[in-house]
Amino acid sequence: MNDASDARGARSGVSRRNFLGGGLVAAAVTPLLTGQADAAEATEGAAAASAGGAHQVTVRAAVNGNPVTVRVDPRATLLDTLRERLDLKGTKKGCDRGQCGACTVHVDGRRVLSCLTLAATAAGHEITTIEGLADGDRLHPMQQAFVDHDGLQCGFCTPGQIMSAVALVDDEGGARSDDEIRERMSGNICRCSAYPRIVDAIRDAQQVMR
Ligand code: FES
Ligand code: FES
Repeated sequence: MNDASDARGARSGVSRRNFLGGGLVAAAVTPLLTGQADAAEATEGAAAASAGGAHQVTVRAAVNGNPVTVRVDPRATLLDTLRERLDLKGTKKGCDRGQCGACTVHVDGRRVLSCLTLAATAAGHEITTIEGLADGDRLHPMQQAFVDHDGLQCGFCTPGQIMSAVALVDDEGGARSDDEIRERMSGNICRCSAYPRIVDAIRDAQQVMR
């Protein structure tokens, strides 16, 4: 993290470190980025996650290591359920149709697009979101590498980038070259085009993680 970004973080009261941890800070910053559209989206997502009345199903799963039981509409996505029912808003809703990667989480250690995953199918599985990566105050090596390389601009895609990159290393054995990193991260779109620094961060983090 450079001095300029430190200074910006200090002025805004939001540090990169906390932002990359997802959770409350990300939830606070997101409305600043998306304005009313995000509020409307949240209302829509909450309705989708909780609608269904008598036809709701009970889902029991582990989320970030904690047992969770939630009643959801069988049509509710994992993304809406995480964000609107479990208040885990570090996972972002970008396209909501499987094209941007902003909603990437882990199911049993594998990266999945939570906007294309029904919450009901997560029953009995271990879900990890960006909020579950850090060990207390100690960032996951991938989060730390994104901080060190300043691998973000607006930060909207960042939770998905990091979740995807962690699975790329931990679940898929990592990448052997920068080209391979680019290829295997191609499902995660960054509208700010922070790609060069994202690749730098992943290249360094996988050395630490191995
Ligand atoms: S929000 Fe899921 S891929 Fe874009
Ligand atoms: S940092 Fe802005 S979309 Fe990636």
